[in-house]
Amino acid sequence: YCTRQTEKLHYVRQGKNTCLNISEGTLVALLAARKDKILQLKTELDQEVDDSVLNSTLVAYASDQAHSSVEKAGLIALVKIRFLPADEKLSLRGETLKQAIQEDRRRGLVPFMLCSTLGTTGVCAFDKLSELGPICEEEGLWLHVDAAYAGSAYFCPELRWSLEGIEFAESFVFNPSKWMMVHFDCTAFWVKNKHKLQQTFSVDPVYLRHENSRAATDFMHWQIPLSRRFRSLKLWFVMRSFGLKNLQAHVRHGIEMAKLLESHIRSDPNFEVPAERHLGLVVFCLKVCKHDTKQERCAKRKCIFCMRQHARWLITGEMHERPNHTLVKGSSNTA
Ligand SMILES: Cc1ncc(COP(=O)(O)O)c(C=O)c1O
Repeated sequence: YCTRQTEKLHYVRQGKNTCLNISEGTLVALLAARKDKILQLKTELDQEVDDSVLNSTLVAYASDQAHSSVEKAGLIALVKIRFLPADEKLSLRGETLKQAIQEDRRRGLVPFMLCSTLGTTGVCAFDKLSELGPICEEEGLWLHVDAAYAGSAYFCPELRWSLEGIEFAESFVFNPSKWMMVHFDCTAFWVKNKHKLQQTFSVDPVYLRHENSRAATDFMHWQIPLSRRFRSLKLWFVMRSFGLKNLQAHVRHGIEMAKLLESHIRSDPNFEVPAERHLGLVVFCLKVCKHDTKQERCAKRKCIFCMRQHARWLITGEMHERPNHTLVKGSSNTA
């Protein structure tokens, strides 16, 4: 996506880190985006304004399908987040974002971030980055991408279609503990410009200084905690022991299994598949039929259950008031 020059520039500036989980990664991205926007607003204003005043004018966006960790990040940072309606495929589209930005600017707010999702929790929908990315760039929004589950699928070139527009992302997180056979906890965090993290999290107490302070990469300046576990080691071991080909095969096998499950469900008259299958995630629900009593209908709609069988997990969800059960591909013991 990048020219040689910008590639070089990105290589120098970009940073990779591991953090506890996606929730922390999204919060870290939100704090960095907020800091960046506040610094930018301060240079534009010719009077001294307190950060808290500027903070109260900020607004971030996500789709109504985004994970609750986005809402939590907003709660912690005291930042307004607007959850925008996804389209009929449950993807966030550019036009919806554009309209929201225009409305908010008219209300005197300052849009500063979009938390997009590739592979939503409910149905594994993909926000349309190819439309959203250019809008974020034009409007000065930090584009954060949460690919918690789908991120592992990008080992396979044929599954990269949803990455169109990824070059506009400022930060990207995915969970190797979901589909890459790396033990929880481990989240991979990529940032386009590491200085934007450092300007958010750098503190300099005397007891933390050392003779290589300036030369070394000190992750304490990239994150909330000071101390950290050596998570990248287990990531490295999984990559070394399986290798790219086996990781790809693992992902592809999971998808084949999901296709098989989908075909069984579709051939069973008691169930329906209310949303398109993506990757290894099949959404299905009990069919409501016309002979059902009100109570039965209600039970089918509200019936949310969890089932575990032979280390295979079913988790439940809800989509547009319809009950559904989402099967999530996880580590090698989970199908
Ligand atoms: C899309 C998405 N984002 C975020 C999360 C939260 O992940 P974590 O538990 O790593 O914070 C999940 C969890 O399933 C998820 O599916």
